[in-house]
Amino acid sequence: MRILVVGSGGREHALVWAIAASPLVDKVFCAPGNAGIAEEAECVPIGVMDTDGIVAFCKREAIDLVVVGPEAPLVAGLVDVLEAEGIAAFGPSKAAAALEGSKGFMKDLCAREGIPTAEYGQFTDPLAAKVFVNARGKPMVVKADGLAAGKGVIVADTLGATISSIDLIMGSNVFGPAGEKIIVEEVLVGEEASFFALCDGVHALPLASAQDHKRVGDGDTGPNTGGMGAYSPCPAVTPEIEADVMQRIVLPTVRAMARDGRPFKGVLFAGLMLTAEGPKLLEFNVRFGDPECQALMMRLQSDIVPALLAARDGVLNRVDLRWYEEAAICVVMAANGYPDDPQRGTEIRGLDAAGEDLDVKIFHAGTRREGERLLADGGRVLGVTATGPDLAAARERAYRAIDRIDWPGGFCRRDIGKRGAS
Ligand code: AMP
Ligand code: GLY
Repeated sequence: MRILVVGSGGREHALVWAIAASPLVDKVFCAPGNAGIAEEAECVPIGVMDTDGIVAFCKREAIDLVVVGPEAPLVAGLVDVLEAEGIAAFGPSKAAAALEGSKGFMKDLCAREGIPTAEYGQFTDPLAAKVFVNARGKPMVVKADGLAAGKGVIVADTLGATISSIDLIMGSNVFGPAGEKIIVEEVLVGEEASFFALCDGVHALPLASAQDHKRVGDGDTGPNTGGMGAYSPCPAVTPEIEADVMQRIVLPTVRAMARDGRPFKGVLFAGLMLTAEGPKLLEFNVRFGDPECQALMMRLQSDIVPALLAARDGVLNRVDLRWYEEAAICVVMAANGYPDDPQRGTEIRGLDAAGEDLDVKIFHAGTRREGERLLADGGRVLGVTATGPDLAAARERAYRAIDRIDWPGGFCRRDIGKRGAS
């Protein structure tokens, strides 16, 4: 098979790495990829939103399957266009990607199906939103309805801050057109976890759980980011909780989407809050998490390609995936200044020595080559990923590798996985 992966981050590097290991695969391409991906796939300079360019490339290169990594092209309908052109693609259609593309759509589906999630109101009028908040009389979470590159959510500490958040999103348009509609919802308290399931429109196959670290600084301080590190499995997601999430969140969603004529195919990523009343859904994403995917791919023992094909073809009931019992952790190294103003173009040295350990894999998230030199080219730049018999061992390996990387222009959190390992 000839497979094209669409994207350029650490998630796509991990997907390319897992796909390239499949005996079914002759050649892997990545559009546009990055310097690390170029070591295992042929990178082609086509942007993720260049639908025409991607279609033309697939036809020219006789691509058998396209795997779409990021949400933006999914929400824009890349899979619909590819399939209409007779090119098989893994990922949800535009109609199904609304689960991530519109938080209001996702919340209404939950309300209709009785899926546990935070109580909410949905508004296009800031005044009505403020009346709703004042009537509740306590701080609430304010969310832009549309895609806002992983931002778009303000968790307010006070009633006053909740009201100002409404003005920020609807008045000052801090998240752009994504904030023309907002969701205001109750604050949920508990441990957060990421849960992934492969779906084929009818069936759902649980993958593994993981825990992300969203804040930029140690001890969960500072601004939110795309994710500074993740580990898998997440011990808080017990087999009972996994069964509960499948029965009360994932399967009802898959059934409702099929009934509504928007069958969901691809990876359903449930962002969960494990509350005292059980798991509740914070949000759906319609793709793998980044950096959760890097940890997941290191633990996946089975060939991923038949599972991706089965999800696309509607025969996931015939698939059984095996996982290594080991723990995996991915520690993100970001460019100084991330997330506000990451510094580009600094040189990274020492990756070969750092990646020597067979249980370590350094995925690239934002790098480019200039001659022999490897340069940082993004906010999140590397995902240093390691496995170990337990999380503590995996952590130690990942940080040992990081300490061998010579990159004064970058930083990482030193506490990824610390809570799960203690
Ligand atoms: P989201 O993009 O919806 O995952 O939100 C980003 C982050 O905001 C989540 O990872 C949570 O930490 C936080 N968050 C979102 N919704 C809530 C909620 N209802 N209660 C508490 N925290 C929330
Ligand atoms: N790591 C969270 C996300 O990919 O949205």
